[in-house]
Amino acid sequence: MGAASARALASEGASVVVADLNGAQAEQTTRQIVEQGGSALAVEVDVRDANAVANMVRQTVDTFETVDILACIAGVLQPTAVDDISEEEWRLVVDVNLTGVFLCAQAVLPIMKEKRFGKIVIMGSMAGRATSTLGGAHYTASKAAVLGFMRHLARETAPFELNVNAINPGIIDTGMIEATTTEESLRGVINGIPFGRMGTPEEVADSVLFLSSDASRYITGAAIDIHGGEVII
Ligand SMILES: NC(=O)c1ccc[n+]([C@@H]2O[C@H](COP(=O)([O-])OP(=O)(O)OC[C@H]3O[C@@H](n4cnc5c(N)ncnc54)[C@H](O)[C@@H]3O)[C@@H](O)[C@H]2O)c1
Repeated sequence: MGAASARALASEGASVVVADLNGAQAEQTTRQIVEQGGSALAVEVDVRDANAVANMVRQTVDTFETVDILACIAGVLQPTAVDDISEEEWRLVVDVNLTGVFLCAQAVLPIMKEKRFGKIVIMGSMAGRATSTLGGAHYTASKAAVLGFMRHLARETAPFELNVNAINPGIIDTGMIEATTTEESLRGVINGIPFGRMGTPEEVADSVLFLSSDASRYITGAAIDIHGGEVII
C-alpha cells in the first residue's frame, strides 16, 4: 500500500520519499516512479528509531526542501493468540504500528506548523475499529491506539490548519495478507466480504491521495473505512 500510495502521489506531481525498513524494496519503488517520469528518493528507515526518522526527514528536506505530506503506512501484523504473545512480539507490533507513527509525525510537525500547511495520513485498520480477523490482540490494540493518536493530533494541530486523518482498510491484497493466510483460509476471509473480493492497494492509495489533496482541506480528525462492506459500523 505504501508503494501504491507513493506511485499515486508521484503521478499527481508530488516529489516522493519512499521510506521503508526494506531499503531494496524502497529502491525498487523509487526506480519505477522515476522511470515513469516522477521524482522520488529512497530512504531506508526503521520507524521505531527516532534518530533514523530524524535522518529521513533531514534527507527529505535536503533533497526536496520541505515536507508537505506525511503518509504513515509502515506496519506489522502477527497472528498470535494472546496466550502465546511474547513480550518482545507485543513490543514489536506496538512499536512499529503506534510508536513509529508518533515518531514520524513528531519529526515533521515543526516544518508543517511553521508553514501552517501539512497533510498527515495515518494507516489505521478496521482492526482498530472492531477486531482483527487475521492479526492478534497486539495488532488490534496498536491500530485502535493509533486512531486515538490521530484524533488527538488532529485536535492539537487544528489551530495550525494541518489536516490529520486516517484510513482504515479491511482486507487488502498485499504481502501482509499473503503471509498470514493459506489458500483455504483466504477463501473463508473473502467469503465474508460482501463485495466478494479483497481491496487493491490502488483503491487504498486513492484515499491517501484524497486526504493529501486540497479536496479534503476542511477535513481533520476523520477516518475513511475501506472494506467492501465487510464491517459496516
Ligand atoms: N493488507 C491489509 O489487509 C491491511 C488492512 C488494514 C491495515 N493494513 C495496514 O496497512 C499498512 C500497510 O500494510 P500492507 O498490507 O501494505 O503490508 P506490507 O507488509 O506489504 O507493507 C508493510 C511495510 O512496512 C514496512 N515496515 C515494517 N516494519 C517497519 C519499520 N520498523 N520501519 C519501516 N518500515 C517498516 C515493511 O518493510 C513493508 O514494506 C500497515 O500499517 C498495515 O497494518 C493492512
